[in-house]
This record gives sequence, structure tokens and C-alpha cells, in this order.
Amino acid sequence: MCGIFAYLNYLTPKKRKEILELLVKGLKRLEYRGYDSAGVAIDSFDSKDMSLIKRSGKVKLLEEEIKNRSSELHVENENDNHCGIAHTRWATHGIPNEVNSHPQRSDVHHSFVVVHNGIITNYKEVKTFLEKKGYRFESETDTEVIAKLIHHLYNLHPNYSFRELVEHVVQQLEGAFALCFKSKHFPGECVATRRGSPLLIGIKTKSHLATDHIPILYGKDDTPATPEHRPHGRPEFPVIPRNDSTSEFQPLEEKSVEYFFASDASAIIEHTNRVIYFEDDDVAAVKNGVLSIHRLRRNMDDPHAREITTLKMELEEIMKGNYDYYMQKEIFEQPESVVNTMRGRVYFDTRNVILGGIKDYIPEIKRCRRLMLIGCGTSYHSAIATRQLLEELTELPVMVELASDFLDRTTPVFRDDVCFFISQSGETADTLMALRYCKQRGALIVGITNTVGSSICRESHCGVHINAGPEIGVASTKAYTSQFISLVMFALVMSEDRISLKTRRMEIIEGLKNLAEQIKEVLKLDSQVRALAEDLYQQKSLLIMGRGFNFATCLEGALKVKELTYMHSEGIMAGELKHGPLALVDDTMPVIMIVMRDGVYKKCMNALQQVTAREGRPIIVCEKGDNETKNFAYKCLEVPKTVDCLQGILTVIPMQLLSFHIAVLRKCNVDCPRNLAKSVTVE
Ligand code: F6R
Repeated sequence: MCGIFAYLNYLTPKKRKEILELLVKGLKRLEYRGYDSAGVAIDSFDSKDMSLIKRSGKVKLLEEEIKNRSSELHVENENDNHCGIAHTRWATHGIPNEVNSHPQRSDVHHSFVVVHNGIITNYKEVKTFLEKKGYRFESETDTEVIAKLIHHLYNLHPNYSFRELVEHVVQQLEGAFALCFKSKHFPGECVATRRGSPLLIGIKTKSHLATDHIPILYGKDDTPATPEHRPHGRPEFPVIPRNDSTSEFQPLEEKSVEYFFASDASAIIEHTNRVIYFEDDDVAAVKNGVLSIHRLRRNMDDPHAREITTLKMELEEIMKGNYDYYMQKEIFEQPESVVNTMRGRVYFDTRNVILGGIKDYIPEIKRCRRLMLIGCGTSYHSAIATRQLLEELTELPVMVELASDFLDRTTPVFRDDVCFFISQSGETADTLMALRYCKQRGALIVGITNTVGSSICRESHCGVHINAGPEIGVASTKAYTSQFISLVMFALVMSEDRISLKTRRMEIIEGLKNLAEQIKEVLKLDSQVRALAEDLYQQKSLLIMGRGFNFATCLEGALKVKELTYMHSEGIMAGELKHGPLALVDDTMPVIMIVMRDGVYKKCMNALQQVTAREGRPIIVCEKGDNETKNFAYKCLEVPKTVDCLQGILTVIPMQLLSFHIAVLRKCNVDCPRNLAKSVTVE
């Protein structure tokens, strides 16, 4: 996730200094989307060149850089039409340094600059193509290919409009993106588009807008949608004369206007509450103060216009979307974050999995003595969750270790070991120390992190970025499910040539394909989970039991309950019940049991009987429609069935929701639990 912000004014005089301040302020609002580096591009005083200012680190550092260069940057523009694009980065390709920061440029003359949120999955192919055409790349980003590709197309088609060039570029791109372009060849213009990543535009005029729709122009000839194509019941766009010279519509009666492009409304709301949310493949261009929205093709159901929405939310609300807490937002982001983890890696059509960050090391990994998965807290649980599948698909011994304990034991490590270091932040001191310990002993180091450029990322030989997007809530949620999926993808890569495992691999890939939809279904349990939380929130303790593929859910659920609600909670391996924990069970002790119809179903049912025999009143998480198991439940939460090794992704979400709701009811600080920090950089 990254944040895009762009500003364009037309006949509304503003000093460059003010615009730079406005851009920086917009980035600060979007900083929650990424804070690895930031940059802006703004036209120079004569609009013939542009200034590009980039800094690694937080937006604050960019702000300081702009202040330091004020004599050069604050020179006033003769025109009162400026365009500036800005970006705050969450690194996905390339470490967070200045060169990798956005805007990315086409050449040293800044002919074209672009800011990007998303991932271009075919950037290597595009890069090879452009290298053959003589382009030299300066950054490690996927985004630079976009800036260079538009430059290449401009050289081929100098008569194309800016918007046409962008349309040609995006036709060559695969993956997810929101893009905002600016060019020296098209001063005062800005073109933006999206596919899979969010983008909206805010419109500010002095008086009330004359319209509440902007027509969409379609195809080569900019044909507006005809009235018969209008979706039933929609208001018609006010009749606006076609402007022959530009073949664009003049949607606004106002001549002076300001436009704000942004990844979300938080950066815009303080300027205007009139916004348009773009749809995938809309290309929006502003030229001479006129906004046009264009689509290359028109499908039957496409509307004739984009609606200008009036935002009614306050800034703080928008930052968290419709959610009250970041953690809640992150839980509900999981249908998208799991897709982002798989994007460009799992090819559902060919049933192929490619992990670009480790593919060159796979032969070496296949020859190893054992796999060691090392992490702390939630990251450690993702290793527990996937160990069984890794053992099954790699047929290698798999050790799972808590980083601190691993170091305490000075565990023997050998040159032919492959050690995985799993960490959302990539900075956890225990995990980092364990990494250095293993590296010194010659093991191959694989990093699994959410933070490109983090210490773990830099010090690993190879690795997988989980691409879950920034996690702000201290309690980890979406990073867990993305770590889980990353390790599953690794298991799939390791077994790609095993004919005997083909059927198993196919069912897992099919399971991954359906995961996002199934997570959405699980999230619908929210109100049921909230009701359960109301029953439980005054309790002193909560036991969570399960085994097999769902044991990690018990550990992770209990950790979430402890850290968020300050209530005692224990994740119990159901097989261990009779060896001690059963003594805790009576008719007052709340017990959650995860009982899925997998290989350990019967054993789980035994544990269930043991609990009910001690008058326990189990709250059962079971498969949807499993009425037989439901009969034993005091209360029940039903989750959709997936393949056994992925089921833990669907069973952990009700636990995340439960801990969240209990924390709210107990009036705990959900996003910043007491005594904890997001990144634990001390041992
Ligand atoms: C729990 C939690 C922590 C982290 C642990 C490791 O919700 O967030 O247990 O999982 O501190 O952090 P990372 O993954 O950043 O190494």
C-alpha cells in the first residue's frame, strides 16, 4: 500500500510554496498507507521543467528538505495553473531509498513522472523490452517501467494526447495500480487511472457545482454514453455543449477550479467534500481546468457518468474508513490483503506458483538438511499454522522456533540448514539476532516480512514480501493471514515437480482461489461474535482448544485476547487436555473449541465430550452446516469449509473479531494495548 496525492489548480492563483505545503499535508494524511519514503514533483516557475524532491523516511523529512531548498523551490510561477503529484511509499520492490522513492521519472529531464500505488506483476517483461530499446533503469522499482514506457510511447506517437498515452501504457500493464502522471510536455495537465488500487478526485470551486455527474467518454472517438444506455433511474447529466476544439465536455460551469487526486478521502476532505470515486480502468484527465473521464471500452452495464459524491464524514473517520479502530479496519481488509499476498505469484489458470524472491534458491533449499521457521508472537504462530503442510509437501524435517528460546538454547545450526525468519515489522530484535546467529553458521537465510528494506529483509539471502500493506494496530491481524499464505505458497513451490502430490496441490490452489470470498463470509459473523463478546467480556479467563491444522488458531486467538483485553487466555492443544488443562474445566469456565471435519475431527470430538462431561459449556467453531457437531455446542460459530491446511485462516478471523469486541467492551485501548509496541526492537 502507498499513498498518492496530486493537486492541480486552474485560474485559482496559488503560490508554489502554498502548493508544496498542501502536497506535504496531503501526504501526511496518507502516511498510514506507507512511510518508507516520500516525494513530490511540481512544475517549475516557467512550466518548462519540473522539480523533483524525494526523501527516504517519513513525510516529515521531505517537508524539511523542501524547507531547506526553499530559495530554489519557492520561486513564484507566472501562471496560476500548477500541477503537483506526490507520494508516500510502502516499499514492495526495492529498498526504501531516495532512488526507489516516487515520483519515478522517465529520464533526467523529467519528461514524464509518475506516482504509483500497487504492484506491476509483469514489470520484468516490460523492463526487458525497454532495455532493448536503450532505456537504462536507475531504481529497483516496478514503477519506473511505467515512466519509461510512457516516454517511449510519446517518442513513437508525438501527436497523442497525454490521456491517450496513459491509456496505451496501462494496456501493457498487469497487476494492481493507481497511477497519477505529470509531464513536462503537457504542462498544467494531470492524468490518473486505476485498476485494483483505490483512487478518487476532489473538486473544489468557489460556488456550488452546477452538476453532480461527470459524463464518461468511451472509445477512440470519445463517444458519450447515449441516453438509452443509462442505467435505469439515474439522473441525466445536464446538457452540456460539446467543446469542438478539445472534443471534451466542459462539465463545470465554473472556470476557476482546483482538483485533488488521492488514494483516499482523508487527504481531500479538508479542501472539499465533493469527490468522484474512480472505477477500474477509468482514465481521468485534467486539461485547461476541464476534467474528463474516459474508458477505452464500453460494456453493456457501464453507466454514462460518474457521480460527484458529497462526503459527510469527518477526517478522523475517513482515516479509519468506516471503522472505529485501525485493528478493526485491518481485520476487515483481509479479503484484499490475502489477494495482494498472492498477486503475481499464484496463477490460478495454469495452477502455477512462482515466488520471485526465492526462485533462484529453490534447488539449494530442496537439498537442505531441514527447514527452521523462526519468529516471535503472531509471526511464530504463522509458522505453527503451516508446519504440517510444509512437512507434507517438502518431506523435510521442519523445526518451528521462538526466536528468544532458540537463542537461549544456542541451538545447533548447520550450513545445510535453511532458516526462515518471519516478521511483520522486519525489525524484531529477537528474530534479527536469531537471523544473525544462523547466518554466521552458514545457513541459508530466508526473510518473510511485510516491510521492504527492514533489517530482516536486508540481511536475508532471499525472501518473500507478504504485501499485506501497513499494519497500524499493534495487534497483528492481516499480517498473520498473509504470512500464513506466504508459507503455503512456499510449500507449493517446493512440491511443484512431485507428481504424487499433484491432486493435493491442486486442491490447495483451488482453496487459495476461493479464500477472499470465504473471508468475506466469515466477516459477516461480526454481529454474532459481538453478541458472544457481550457474554464473555466480564469473565476472568478464556480457554481456546483445538488440534492439527487449527492448533495455531488457538494460540493466536489466546494471544489476541491477552494482549487486547488483559484477560487471561490460553491456547490449548486438545490432545493435551487430559494431561492437565481439563482440571480447569467446570460449568463456569468459558471454553472455545475449534472442531473441523478434518483428519483430527474424531479426536477433537473426544476432547469435546471430555469438556461436556465436566459440565463445560463449549462455544464451538465448526464448519458451516455441520449440525451434528453443533448439537454439542452451548454456542456456535459456523465458518465456510476450505481445504484442511487453509482452514486456520478462516478460523482465526472469528478469534480476531472476538478479542477486538471484548477489548472494546472492556474499554481497552484497541490500537495501542498497554505495555506493547508495534515493533519490538529490544531483546
Ligand atoms: C501480536 C503481535 C506480536 C508480534 C511480535 C513479532 O499481535 O503483534 O506478537 O507478532 O512482536 O513482531 P514481528 O512480526 O514484527 O516480528
